Amino acid sequence: MARVNEYYADLQNNFLFAEVARRVAVHQARHPQLEYLRLGIGDVTSPLVPAVTQALHRAVDEMGQANTFKGYGPEQGYSFLREAIVQHDFAQRGVTMDNEAIFISDGSKCDVGNLQELFSPDAVIAVTDPVYPVYVDSNIMAGRGGNRGHILYLPCTQENNFVPELPSGKVDVIYLCYPNNPTGTVLSRAQLAVWVEYALACEAVIIFDAAYEAYINDPNIPHSIYEIDGAEKVAIECRSFSKTAGFTGLRCAYTVIPKTVRAKNVQGETVSLQGMWQRRQCTRYNGCPYIVQRAAEAVYSPEAQTQLAAVLQGYMRNARAIRQAVLEMGLHCVGGVNAPYVWMQTPEHLSSWECFDVLLDAGIVCTPGAGFGPSGEGYVRFTAFGSAAHSQQAMERLKVLENFA
Ligand code: MLT
Repeated sequence: MARVNEYYADLQNNFLFAEVARRVAVHQARHPQLEYLRLGIGDVTSPLVPAVTQALHRAVDEMGQANTFKGYGPEQGYSFLREAIVQHDFAQRGVTMDNEAIFISDGSKCDVGNLQELFSPDAVIAVTDPVYPVYVDSNIMAGRGGNRGHILYLPCTQENNFVPELPSGKVDVIYLCYPNNPTGTVLSRAQLAVWVEYALACEAVIIFDAAYEAYINDPNIPHSIYEIDGAEKVAIECRSFSKTAGFTGLRCAYTVIPKTVRAKNVQGETVSLQGMWQRRQCTRYNGCPYIVQRAAEAVYSPEAQTQLAAVLQGYMRNARAIRQAVLEMGLHCVGGVNAPYVWMQTPEHLSSWECFDVLLDAGIVCTPGAGFGPSGEGYVRFTAFGSAAHSQQAMERLKVLENFA
């Protein structure tokens, strides 16, 4: 009989969001009358904007005509989209980026999960704690979990103002997500520069997840790690249209690997990670659909930018309302200012999962902080991606919960 990958035994039974969905479904079966207000998984609820759906329609029509039909596309993505990305996401922010560095994909979740394949099985991986679980789980699946000690947690707590400290020893790969999922906190330019300097000094690679950069309000917060000098030598950046343009169902993202980002092989020679990723994508991936890439290109049009600004402002109004309500209850929270997540400390007598249960009984779905790592215990996360009415209603229910705050 075939042998399974034993490393899967090092994983928790269920992926966090699947476990939350399972518990909500069980609860719902017992309380069919309860109207649930879903502030759990960070899934967008506003529809695609008209400029994007119009581009989709046009692309669908092209696929139905012999002279404009497209078969397999370039694995790395169509040049029209890669050029638009370089122009709008980088050049306009003063960052010089080469088209060759851009790899279009169908989601950042896959990219941040797959990137670990570029590194040796005994690479030491550092993650902030709490952390988006995909970084950890994908490394566990590759054999870096269990008691092998290849995953180092960098606590982000109230004590250090949710700013991770540099690892005391040598690490090979560091995952940073800013604006942060789940805490909603950000790193200033100076704080991010500390990480770039560390990576340059230790020859480490940073995987920078910037999925929520569009929610940054403070002009002093960097949107891209490449705004920091030297980052082009040590950083891979993952970006997504999911939260920026409502593509969670449509699926389009991209990963940036400048050719100057290198790591060593066993002979001690340096190898380009861009070349390795190119090799990997060509082997395992046939590219994001043409119609979706045309929709993503349309995101950069002036019409779409105006339409999307209104959507994102709506989400951020929710974030502020959630944050305000939590603070008025006398509970500690962070986030909700430059990110669509609010990270709330649970009342003293409740653990993360207990708080999740209490809120679920009130019909409010949140995500328990403990699911994001040991330092997430004692917190829950609220997403601002719901409707204004639901976010407001959830906070009204929270405020009248007996013995809560
Ligand atoms: C979240 O809730 O953290 C996000 O929806 C996860 C994701 O983007 O995959």
